[in-house]
Amino acid sequence: MCGIVAYVGPKDAAPILLEGLQRLEYRGYDSAGVVVSNRGLKLRKVKGRVADLAKVVPVRFKGNLGIGHTRWATHGVPSDENAHPHLSADQRIAVVHNGIIENAGELRAKLVADGVAFASETDTEVLAHLIARAADENDTLEEAVRKTLKLVVGTYGIAVIDAERPGEVVVARNGSPIVLGIGEKEMFAASDVAALVRYTRQVVHLEDGELAVLKADGFHTFASDARETAKEPLTVDWDAGHYDTGGYEHYLLKEISEQPETITRTMSGRLDERFHVAHLGGLNMDARETRSFRRVKIIGCGSAYYSGQIGAQLIEELARIPADAEPASEFRYRNPVVDPNTLYVAISQSGETYDTLAAVQELKRKGGRVIGIVNAVGSAIAREVDGGIYLHAGPEVSVASTKAFTSTSLAFALLALHLGRVRDLSPADGRRVVDGLRRLPGQIEEILAQGDKIAELAQKYAKHPGMMFVGRVRGYPVAREGAQKLKEISYVHAEAYPASELKHGPLALIGPDMPTVAIVPDDELLDKNLTTLGEIRARGGQVLMVGHREPAAKLADDVIVIPKNEIELDPILLTIPLQLLAYHAAVALGRDVDKPRNLAKSVTVE
Ligand code: AGP
Repeated sequence: MCGIVAYVGPKDAAPILLEGLQRLEYRGYDSAGVVVSNRGLKLRKVKGRVADLAKVVPVRFKGNLGIGHTRWATHGVPSDENAHPHLSADQRIAVVHNGIIENAGELRAKLVADGVAFASETDTEVLAHLIARAADENDTLEEAVRKTLKLVVGTYGIAVIDAERPGEVVVARNGSPIVLGIGEKEMFAASDVAALVRYTRQVVHLEDGELAVLKADGFHTFASDARETAKEPLTVDWDAGHYDTGGYEHYLLKEISEQPETITRTMSGRLDERFHVAHLGGLNMDARETRSFRRVKIIGCGSAYYSGQIGAQLIEELARIPADAEPASEFRYRNPVVDPNTLYVAISQSGETYDTLAAVQELKRKGGRVIGIVNAVGSAIAREVDGGIYLHAGPEVSVASTKAFTSTSLAFALLALHLGRVRDLSPADGRRVVDGLRRLPGQIEEILAQGDKIAELAQKYAKHPGMMFVGRVRGYPVAREGAQKLKEISYVHAEAYPASELKHGPLALIGPDMPTVAIVPDDELLDKNLTTLGEIRARGGQVLMVGHREPAAKLADDVIVIPKNEIELDPILLTIPLQLLAYHAAVALGRDVDKPRNLAKSVTVE
């Protein structure tokens, strides 16, 4: 949430900062700003997108040191004044900040009582004034920042520059990511490697409580007690090309279309054809420990939570271990009972979602065994858990999650196979699942080939003010994810219900203006689902059915037929047409597909 970029080196900072901000815009996009240092600080910031900022940055905006920010508002409405960077009253210090300073009100009141005039409503501006005061009293910017951070309660990733020390940037992290990028006689910092890969693939992730001083010729990192820490750079797997739209009109369409490859990468090297098992070395668990769990509890937020529901179903069916999923944002606040015989699984594409991270920290504090299913390598959640499964799905840039959702569901199939095969899942059933997994990429290709037909259906259905999504058992999380995709990118109201629950209330909503997307796989619940379709149509509701064959009777207005896999794996395939439906509905309605209103990709605040 919010993007930070910083640069120090021989080049002009502004173009590097603007380019970096563009790549981070998915993290927040209500306002943006940059400041460079060149005999004083030069600042430009605007309400709007990075493209709007680029228009107001003059060609001659020279300076070899600078910081930039793209914002997702927490304190104060999106406006020019509330946009970052924020300057101290004497224009000496500039700060950009991600996160929330919880005691900002108190700190602000003290500063105001001392006669400091504030230019914005933000919590961040407090930092600029406090660091400026400390800079007057301390020899180094590093010390001034450290002293200020001791006064602060809350979360932050910050970058700070001082007009009087034009060769250095100080960055610090507590709860909001900061990554350093190491160049040739130049240094970068950002809240995500996406902003760095064009310039370097050598990166260093800061830990919570760490602070770093960057100069053109290198960097030093320090723990919260000012002790210098030794950090080994990592090489990032992805290059700048992975962050481009690759010729597609939107990142979302690119990411939907990549799914045959991304799920292949998720299972690559993990399937064993001899014993029909999954190799998941990252779990760091031997067979005895793997057998010892009596329950599995899955936590995640939003789409990650819905993929967790698919995962719980897979684990119960294949491993016969009781499993359930819960939003991490709820779990962390209800003082959960942490059981030593339960395996906890935290899911996060970004590995940064604050609610999920806080839930993991609470679990660990209480002695729970937590594994992660995470896409972003080296992210906060990945580093916090005891082991896990990386998705290897590549960077997901569009705010709506698609390829990470299917890869997570696939990772759960691997985990369920793994847990099942050390228990009672037979070799024959293991083989059935392994063969099914191998068929998925080709079957996804077949669904993608129906893109034009689904685009036509999207045009037809997007005209309605709202849509109902229904599914039973394995189909229910698919319906929830379908509704989530539609509402988040097309702004069409969408509700998901278990098909069995329709007659207990929501059937009252059904009529000509409320079509239903029904998930109807060819499984043991087929007849029950077909009965539900009849009930909907009897009330004048239109039905768009997603399933494995046309129903014999005229029970649906439209049908998307997809290839059949094993019943446990079908939910992965059933999700794909719903992604395409939401995408084409959003395009038909002229929405900003990759950056839907009010949202941001990584929700790093509570
Ligand atoms: C998905 O389309 C959403 N944008 C959102 O629900 C997302 O899945 C959620 O915020 C969790 O993100 P994470 O996987 O990065 O933790």
